[in-house]
Amino acid sequence: MTLAPERKALPTTQKLFVDRWSPRAFSSAEISVEEVESLFDAARWAPSAYNSQPWRFMYARRGTAVWEKFLSWLVPFNQSWASQASVLVYVVSETHMLSPSGEKVISSTHAYDCGAAAMLLQLQATATGWAAHSMSGFDNEAAVKGLALPEGYAVHCAIAIGRQGNVQNLPEGLQAREKPSDRSPLSVLAWEGVFSDGPSGAAG
Ligand SMILES: Cc1cc2nc3c(=O)[nH]c(=O)nc-3n(C[C@H](O)[C@H](O)[C@H](O)COP(=O)(O)O)c2cc1C
Repeated sequence: MTLAPERKALPTTQKLFVDRWSPRAFSSAEISVEEVESLFDAARWAPSAYNSQPWRFMYARRGTAVWEKFLSWLVPFNQSWASQASVLVYVVSETHMLSPSGEKVISSTHAYDCGAAAMLLQLQATATGWAAHSMSGFDNEAAVKGLALPEGYAVHCAIAIGRQGNVQNLPEGLQAREKPSDRSPLSVLAWEGVFSDGPSGAAG
């Protein structure tokens, strides 16, 4: 379980959400297929437009034949720490869906739906003692090719998942950055009314 006791949230906010953060130090622990599947099962319960469930997850566990390939698509910066994770996941979604009348149409929400599923995956990880770190820093073209994705699928993100490890095992430049980040105050993110009623609207 990742913990972030210094983060301040309203007492009504579920602790699981606040405790989830994205460490880079992993312990290189093994993860079983059953444990990986328990994370994806949580993702399955995300809502999606017309229940289209566009998300797909492709993964490689550390030490398996596909691991090095999955790792190689990450940018070198991400490789430098994600190499100690237990599993690397590529988050993909189908860009088309069946309309209520049964036609194949472009889904305007496939990325939104897929993000919701990825979030459930990460919260399940936090709740069960794993840490997850999302990465957009990967070579999209290499991932599409390497994953052998057919037309009509988009890769959104990679996620490194593992047991949180010792900060000292990180490359030196990353050690000082290994702490939970803060958030903008609620007042600048949400308000009653239209855009001009909010803080940016008033300033503009
Ligand atoms: C879509 C997405 C892409 C990200 N890409 C990277 C990345 O390539 N490398 C990295 O080290 N962190 C990456 N992050 C992690 C963010 O920097 C991190 O989630 C953010 O600073 C908030 O911190 P927290 O997750 O610890 O609360 C990414 C996060 C998201 C959601």
